[in-house]
Amino acid sequence: MISKETVLQQMSYNLDSIDIEGVGNKIPGKVRDSYVVGDKRLLVTSDRLSAFDVILSTIPFKGQVLNDMAAYWFDRTAHIIENHIISRPHPNVFLAREAEILPIEVIVRGYLTGSAWRDYHGGKDVSGIKLPEGLRKSEKFAEPLLTPSTKAAHGEHDEPISSEEIVKQGIVSAPLWEEVSQKALELFEFGSKVAAEQGLILVDTKYEFGLLDDGNGGKKLILADEVHTSDSSRYWIKDKYAEAYETGEEPPKLDKEFVRAWLIEQGYLGEGTPPSFEDDFRAEVALKYIEAFETITGQTFEAKPKNIKDDVQAAISGLKLG
Ligand SMILES: Nc1ncnc2c1ncn2[C@@H]1O[C@H](COP(=O)(O)OP(=O)(O)O)[C@@H](O)[C@H]1O
Ligand SMILES: [Mg+2]
Repeated sequence: MISKETVLQQMSYNLDSIDIEGVGNKIPGKVRDSYVVGDKRLLVTSDRLSAFDVILSTIPFKGQVLNDMAAYWFDRTAHIIENHIISRPHPNVFLAREAEILPIEVIVRGYLTGSAWRDYHGGKDVSGIKLPEGLRKSEKFAEPLLTPSTKAAHGEHDEPISSEEIVKQGIVSAPLWEEVSQKALELFEFGSKVAAEQGLILVDTKYEFGLLDDGNGGKKLILADEVHTSDSSRYWIKDKYAEAYETGEEPPKLDKEFVRAWLIEQGYLGEGTPPSFEDDFRAEVALKYIEAFETITGQTFEAKPKNIKDDVQAAISGLKLG
């Protein structure tokens, strides 16, 4: 694996934000910045770290690591559903087909944890699903659960919504929601199987689906955004699960959850001033992300310290768009 020294060398080049010339207006997201050019979208994955919907710091190589993960999973899931990727002109950048994104975060959970546990523990149902009584934290569901939420406007938190409400409110039509549900569960089942081969549990994840013209006057469903990355998913280490579950502790997890756990330890839950991130800790976080990539994919992460901003601009300038 890449050394901590290399990671520290990259620190001053972290991609915070970028304004690319010649590709129109930037649409800033929490982690990625988009540029829409005709029927295409350039998705630039920055090194920004967000948790609790707040941007906290930048982490060396994080953008590339996330894109490496997404690329791996888009490739491996292409037999289940077509996706939005056209090409990857730079490690931090995807060129994608601009889709009409369904305004629902399609979340699938294999285990009772995170916000689902908080809702269940607080006596609430989970996205309209009434779970049996007596479930324990981190318990495996008999079948993976679809727990959608609405895609909140900028700065707001997402709200759980039931499948019934999605259809009733006309957010997504019944047949389309049926197709989305089926694809999401199929993706999750496949992801879980692949993760298990690597000694991991895919605990839960979020998908974004979109619609594209199918060329025959209709629309077709595709998988957009990112897939099974550590920003959109929670992974646990399989070997450590049974013991943690028995003792009622949170099973050890990969990557981002490491940061969340640290923040909670510092008493930060998304409100007020976040704790400051020292370079040494940021390097540790980077190594966690890299380790996660290597564990999930079985591949070796490759990168050298370099000025990402200049590199991205150069790669995009040479692209034929539109
Ligand atoms: N193929 C696509 N077409 C249109 N929008 C997309 C596509 N893929 C991803 N997006 C959108 O691009 C944005 C990615 O940036 P991100 O940092 O994840 O934003 P957010 O803060 O909304 O999570 C999201 O709003 C996502 O819905
Ligand atoms: Mg997002």
